[in-house]
Amino acid sequence: MIAAYRKLFALLLLVGHAWAIPSPGASSPYADLKVKESLRQAPSGWTLVGEPPADHIISLRIGLPQSNFETLKEHLFQISDPDHERYGQHLSKEEVEEFVKPPSHSLDKVNAWLKAHGFAEVDLERSPAKDWVSIKVPVKLAEEMLGTTYNMWKHDESGDTLVRTTSYSLPSSLHAHIDVIQPTTMFSRFNPLSTTFHWPDAASRSATYKAPTRASDARLAAVDPSCSSTITIKCLQQLYNTGGYVPQVPEKNSVGITGYLEQFANLNDLKLFYQDQVPNAVNSSYEFVSVKGGLNNQTTNSAGAEANLDVQFAFGLTFPTPATFWSTAGRPPFLPDLTTPSNTNEPYGDWVDFVLAQEKVPYVISTSYGEPEQTVPEAYARRVCDSFAQLGARGVSLLFSSGDGGVGDGSSSASHRCKTNDGRNATRFLPTFPAGCPYVTAVGGTTEVPEVSVDFSGGGFSDYFPRPAYQDDSVNAFLKTVPSGLYKDLYNPAGRGFPDVAAQGTSFRIFYRGRSASIGGTSASSPAFAGIVTLLNDARLAQGKSPLGFLNPAIYAKGYAGLNDITGGYSNVGCGTKGFNATAGWDPITGLGTPDFLKLKTILADNLD
Ligand SMILES: *[C@@H]1O[C@H](CO)[C@@H](O)[C@H](O)[C@H]1NC(C)=O
Ligand SMILES: *[C@@H]1O[C@H](CO)[C@@H](O)[C@H](O)[C@H]1NC(C)=O
Ligand SMILES: *[C@@H]1O[C@H](CO)[C@@H](O)[C@H](O)[C@H]1NC(C)=O
Ligand SMILES: *[C@@H]1O[C@H](CO)[C@@H](O)[C@H](O)[C@H]1NC(C)=O
Repeated sequence: MIAAYRKLFALLLLVGHAWAIPSPGASSPYADLKVKESLRQAPSGWTLVGEPPADHIISLRIGLPQSNFETLKEHLFQISDPDHERYGQHLSKEEVEEFVKPPSHSLDKVNAWLKAHGFAEVDLERSPAKDWVSIKVPVKLAEEMLGTTYNMWKHDESGDTLVRTTSYSLPSSLHAHIDVIQPTTMFSRFNPLSTTFHWPDAASRSATYKAPTRASDARLAAVDPSCSSTITIKCLQQLYNTGGYVPQVPEKNSVGITGYLEQFANLNDLKLFYQDQVPNAVNSSYEFVSVKGGLNNQTTNSAGAEANLDVQFAFGLTFPTPATFWSTAGRPPFLPDLTTPSNTNEPYGDWVDFVLAQEKVPYVISTSYGEPEQTVPEAYARRVCDSFAQLGARGVSLLFSSGDGGVGDGSSSASHRCKTNDGRNATRFLPTFPAGCPYVTAVGGTTEVPEVSVDFSGGGFSDYFPRPAYQDDSVNAFLKTVPSGLYKDLYNPAGRGFPDVAAQGTSFRIFYRGRSASIGGTSASSPAFAGIVTLLNDARLAQGKSPLGFLNPAIYAKGYAGLNDITGGYSNVGCGTKGFNATAGWDPITGLGTPDFLKLKTILADNLD
């Protein structure tokens, strides 16, 4: 429903705006500007506060079409399908780049346009496959090139400011040669998903509770009773049945964590955490990598809780596997008086370009950031999602938190809650991006022992990405359980359903600023699941097999039998509704369930070549 509406809407806008905007060089081949992308209005919650300074510099990223993404996708699905003879035969960096490099005539046309505006090759920064080009450009010139006017916008809730526009144009001769240019219409804020956890009061809590239908596993008797109230590394090892597994070939394996928004981890806190929970690891560390000036300030009180959580749990579970932490700059608030910012406010692109340029990329990467899908313009979301497919084809498993707002965005501001920003202000569930990208594994949250679904666990159905074939059966089975007519028009049943899997998401005991602290959110679930996947890769690598790579096809086809199906708990409330329930089989709150390492090892490592 909504997809059709959006397409129609875009078409109307294009027709409405298809006039040529007169430009200084009216005779130039670039004078014929036509609208490329346009929003009906700025997303709710943003207020126009004025013009940016004339000398303000914008870092524009220009996405050129990729010559052969469809073929790359075919390869990706073959090498990720456990029943295909090519399973596990990942592509090299060069092979992937061959598929996504832009057609040469597109490259030539864009180069000529940039040259006409005074840019030389040295001014351009290109992605490895040349499918993205970035330029630093004064706002006045950007406005001329894109036939638009940039403004400063303020986010009412946080006070963050951004320099953005609601519409931009391109010469009509370039429309077929440029997919997307940002930052233009992107108002996303890219939030870390860790939260200090507060249960709602008992009454509203029980109103969202549905008893599990599956008898709990006898194995849980071995789980320490303290795990019901505090999650430690040992709890995760017991709950997820690692059976004392010790990495066999750490030198062949790798794991990584991404940090954004000036988030980096504190090494002293990591040491305290290891003393508390992983004494063998106490002298170990990880490789810190700064992307575009990402910080790593080790003075007390400057590390972030999110980064500490992710690093402590992912690396604590996988010690002594070599670990990498990327700190990527690029965060609102955008300081309006900064004329040469090092950030682009567009961090996924910066990070993914950086990582795609590396010959060797960690086999498992967990990211605990996300935002409502509708705040990321669709064309840009697609390109970012396609970049994740490139990493999958190279054998990398990408895990993302599913979000902490249930079926909504958890916004505390009632007037903005769950409203579409397509001009209708209709109430609608808000799926999370990148969790809704079909080429990543989205991780939802659970709580308690035995595990039940937790009410904040982000889940639902993408409005941008259709349901991939690998989850057809599972998601269809779930949809049959939703009472007919319920939530009609609130979600897109034909969309990519998420999360795919789940892990504990409350009361993780971390160390932060020198002291122990309790933290939760699907931010905790993603690194926990990533830790288990890293151990599975170790088991595969020790047998001379390839790493798992893009996980979903194998998880939906076989791996589900090694997951603990979560069949009840607190529904993922949001948007003034009770949200969805955890059910037998897949559901949009805990996916297919939480890991049972020893079972998964048999299915995905020992019995899968
Ligand atoms: C850590 O290093 C200290 C100092 O070198 C040493 O005494 C200790 O045994 C080491 N601990 C481990 C677990 O390697
Ligand atoms: C980094 O640490 C220094 C002290 O060494 C401090 O002065 C500075 O403000 C810190 N920077 C950030 C961005 O936290
Ligand atoms: C939607 O909300 C915006 C901002 O609150 C308002 O300007 C606009 O008129 C509303 N549109 C409709 C169709 O209600
Ligand atoms: C969730 O479960 C409750 C209690 O069994 C039921 O009333 C409700 O309709 C279910 N909701 C959905 C979306 O299936």
